[in-house]
Amino acid sequence: MAATRPFSIKTKLNTLVVVSVLITTGLVIVAFRTETQLRIITVFSIIASMLLTQLIAHSLTAPLREMTAASRAMANGDYSRRVRAGRRDELGDLAVAFNRMAADLEAVDRHRKELVANVSHELRTPIAALRAVLENVVDGVCEPDSETLRTALGQTERLGRLVEHLLDLSRLDNGVVPLNARPFEVWPYLSAVLRTAQMDAMAAGSRSRTDVHLHLAVSPSGLTACADTERLHQVVSNLIDNAVKHSPPGGRVTVSARPGAAPLSLELEVLDEGPGIPKAEHDRIFDRFNRGSAPSQKGKSGDGGTGLGLAIARWAVDLHGGRIRVVESPRGCRIRVSLPGRGRLRS
Ligand SMILES: Nc1ncnc2c1ncn2[C@@H]1O[C@H](COP(=O)(O)OP(=O)(O)OP(=O)(O)O)[C@@H](O)[C@H]1O
Ligand SMILES: [Mg+2]
Repeated sequence: MAATRPFSIKTKLNTLVVVSVLITTGLVIVAFRTETQLRIITVFSIIASMLLTQLIAHSLTAPLREMTAASRAMANGDYSRRVRAGRRDELGDLAVAFNRMAADLEAVDRHRKELVANVSHELRTPIAALRAVLENVVDGVCEPDSETLRTALGQTERLGRLVEHLLDLSRLDNGVVPLNARPFEVWPYLSAVLRTAQMDAMAAGSRSRTDVHLHLAVSPSGLTACADTERLHQVVSNLIDNAVKHSPPGGRVTVSARPGAAPLSLELEVLDEGPGIPKAEHDRIFDRFNRGSAPSQKGKSGDGGTGLGLAIARWAVDLHGGRIRVVESPRGCRIRVSLPGRGRLRS
């Protein structure tokens, strides 16, 4: 492709050779006509060729020098530098690719900084709270009674969950989690996930919500789907955890499943009777560390959420080539997961 370009580097170098030869020939002809000494003509033609070479060499090396300076700046952490793009030769292509790479690196760097800032903040909050509780006990300001210890336990549980989620996310970011999709029977699988969720709710200590009823509806009852059951477990248990957390006292959480359009595809919904999620937040709640604005039944500060549950769920669904979204519901929050079956699974 480069060979056919009118402004390629190859064309420019060919032109340089042709023009140098033409200048020399012209000067030789002039020398013969004017009977000038050949020595002088040789000197002139060398000077003319060198000037021309200098001109072209400068135009070729200037963008390379610019890129070198920008790369050095990047190596020192300044990803904002861009090089001039607009040339119509291979160096122009290189400049465009370079700028795209710089923009990608800048985005990755910004994301990394945000993540580190968020993680540090999220770790600091429960640690500070735990420290305050323990200091009060040590100083004799408050008694080490069950209420105080429950507060300390709550913060420890939150720290544990945060670390677990971060480990999950870093495994995902490293791409070391392979997708092991296989056909499975939906009803027995989901009822086992619900049982585990119920047991988790009972063992949740200070966050315990045993008053919420979990209900399963699979239609048809012998439904079979194809997915990585381990990853799907993460999705469903995070959705149930949220639904339970935001349910009113004695509320009902319904997990329903039906087949999608493609063979072995699955449409899964988790519905609760809580306050729901405002439309403006429907997309944002899937971002890391986004905790939305809806208070849980235990109040915003007391729900102990890390804002990572739905980010993990979305990652797991994306891995399947599926979709997770909040759908309109007259009451409560309804989250729908669509898995494509075997056809569109990502390897
Ligand atoms: N069923 C729901 N009803 C109302 N709001 C919800 C519901 N599910 C999620 N949200 C909102 O979305 C936010 C993000 O949820 P996500 O699961 O990512 O984090 P979290 O529940 O706060 O923390 P974690 O999952 O780590 O315990 C929640 O903080 C909440 O504001
Ligand atoms: Mg959650």
